[in-house]
Amino acid sequence: MSTLEIKDLHVSVETEQGAKQILRGVNLVIKQGETHAIMGPNGSGKSTLAYAIAGHPKYKVTSGSILLDGEEMTTLSVDARARAGLFLAMQYPVEIPGVTVTNFLRTAKTAIDGSAPPLRGWIKDVKTSMTALRMDSTFAERNVNEGFSGGEKKRNEILQLELLKPKIAVLDETDSGLDVDALKIVSEGVNRAKANTDVGVLLITHYNRILRYITPDFVHVFVAGQVVESGGPELAVQLENDGYDVYVAASAAAASAIASAEASDAAAASAPAVNA
Ligand SMILES: Nc1ncnc2c1ncn2[C@@H]1O[C@H](COP(=O)(O)OP(=O)(O)OP(=O)(O)O)[C@@H](O)[C@H]1O
Ligand SMILES: [Mg+2]
Repeated sequence: MSTLEIKDLHVSVETEQGAKQILRGVNLVIKQGETHAIMGPNGSGKSTLAYAIAGHPKYKVTSGSILLDGEEMTTLSVDARARAGLFLAMQYPVEIPGVTVTNFLRTAKTAIDGSAPPLRGWIKDVKTSMTALRMDSTFAERNVNEGFSGGEKKRNEILQLELLKPKIAVLDETDSGLDVDALKIVSEGVNRAKANTDVGVLLITHYNRILRYITPDFVHVFVAGQVVESGGPELAVQLENDGYDVYVAASAAAASAIASAEASDAAAASAPAVNA
């Protein structure tokens, strides 16, 4: 059984004004078969966490670690992490002109498994998954995400999840932009992957509605680059009703207490010594 362990993770992003710290000590343990939901305000760093796990080069781990079955991921390239069993369904899937969906999937599968999947079984698997996700077969020959609607892009992410069979999958707002029917179809895809491969899921979302289809074992509240509260599915209902105000206020108070303690430490250090 695989385990993803995120320990005291600090991450900064490169900006034109220099490095900006986004994640401030994230701790999470996700075991295979478990589903963890992360909910938090816009800009709190949820996608940054997703990118840091996947290995986006713009997001620098300044301290802490990301361990998959005890193996340090932060020093590995994106493709090595994918081979190790990590997967990211992006909040904003990118278009890849000139690469068809079929080609992309087979190339990715071959790279991850280390050998090409036997053709007949593979074609059947792709067809089965596309049918289940209600993706018309013409998508197979279209360029990845090019001209896809928002909902079609999200289905294509789950198609990859089903076929690549990762150990741990991060799904960043896979529900955003889906109509009610598509939400159900995409959720069923995630649940099939869970049933077939026991994948561990980190599901980033703003809405409780997807959690009615994909039941989380744990719900985490994410504010200002940290997990500030964890609970069960009832926490998602509470967040939907009450919002994040109480957590945001507590987090801001804690940050200002730390800042003033640091300022008084600095003042004490620079104060002239008093002669006795
Ligand atoms: N390349 C970048 N340059 C400057 N700031 C960045 C960059 N990438 C991320 N940030 C900032 O980091 C913060 C966290 O962004 P992130 O996308 O992780 O938030 P989020 O929690 O996923 O938000 P949302 O719910 O809106 O998707 C934001 O304030 C964002 O502007
Ligand atoms: Mg985001």
